[in-house]
Amino acid sequence: MTGEAGLDLEKHQQEVLEQVAQAPDTGALEQLRIQVLGRKSALNRELSRVGQLPPEQRREVGRVANAVKGAIEAAIAERQAELRAGGAGSLDIAEAIDLTFPATRPRRGHPHPVSLVMREMEEIFRGLGYDIARGPEIETDYYAFEALNIPVGHPARDGFDTFFIATDDIEAGPEGEGKVVLRPHTSPMQVRYMESHPPPIRVVIPGKTYRRDNDATHVPVFHQLEGLLVDEGVTVADLRGTLEYFARAMFGDDRRIRLRPDYFPFTEPSLEVHVSCFQCDGAGCSLCRFSGWIEILGSGMVHPNVLRFGGIDPDRYTGFAFGMGIDRIAMLKYGVEDLRSMLDPDLRFVRQF
Ligand code: PHE
Repeated sequence: MTGEAGLDLEKHQQEVLEQVAQAPDTGALEQLRIQVLGRKSALNRELSRVGQLPPEQRREVGRVANAVKGAIEAAIAERQAELRAGGAGSLDIAEAIDLTFPATRPRRGHPHPVSLVMREMEEIFRGLGYDIARGPEIETDYYAFEALNIPVGHPARDGFDTFFIATDDIEAGPEGEGKVVLRPHTSPMQVRYMESHPPPIRVVIPGKTYRRDNDATHVPVFHQLEGLLVDEGVTVADLRGTLEYFARAMFGDDRRIRLRPDYFPFTEPSLEVHVSCFQCDGAGCSLCRFSGWIEILGSGMVHPNVLRFGGIDPDRYTGFAFGMGIDRIAMLKYGVEDLRSMLDPDLRFVRQF
């Protein structure tokens, strides 16, 4: 519909509606509104011309021009609401992404003190030429006890507070032989490792261990680091020298160690290792319970029966083994007093280390 030499109203409406739909933001939309509906707009000129038209055209042109105006106003209002809502459709608008706005930092995790101490121990032994191995946490009774010289009926079995796993397809004997367990220590890896590695053997095995303990100073899941060295002519002097080196690397150059008799069925002799207190240097304090010494691990010379279970000739080879609780050492080293905080998932705890 065209008034005499006037605006093609339908075409004009179509063009304007397209521009409205593409207006990138409310500012641009407002400029567009003034341009297409304002006093100097083509549409306004057309409307003011209506009065001068011949009477037979006047009504019709006026009606169409007003309809176009209404359609444009409605489209602008709709686009304005859309831009204000800032829906997904506006994400491609340059202004929606302010590159100068400070970014929110992604939340980062932090290694747990147990992980830190475990890594530190691994590094110390790696420096001495040890390999690092890992083994199954779900273990057979054979590797957890039998092959460690703890046969069925041996009283030492009681001390391990073992979780036995109920399995239908395993026929277990009355004392648990043939059963599956959650390993109560990392020592089962001694025989597993011997089976697949001929001497000389130098290996440490860090990992999770499980016992049915749950009180103020024990939890059912903890961590140990096992050590095993087997070669010709290995003596207690090698054990002592190695663990003294370890204690100094871990707790400070001034540390001394002392050995006390102990008992494990899989070592003979068995030795408890104490380190001089790194807080009071032996004078006596609350950390060492005023004894000047802190027990850090159990160890001993590998029992000949255990070497045999591992397929190694005890007449030719000897070795030493040791096992230490990583959680306890982490607590001592970092001065953590409550075991429960070691299990707290609160990042504010782990970030301290
Ligand atoms: N496995 C023993 C424990 O858990 C520690 C140990 C390891 C002792 C190796 C001697 C040799 O108590």
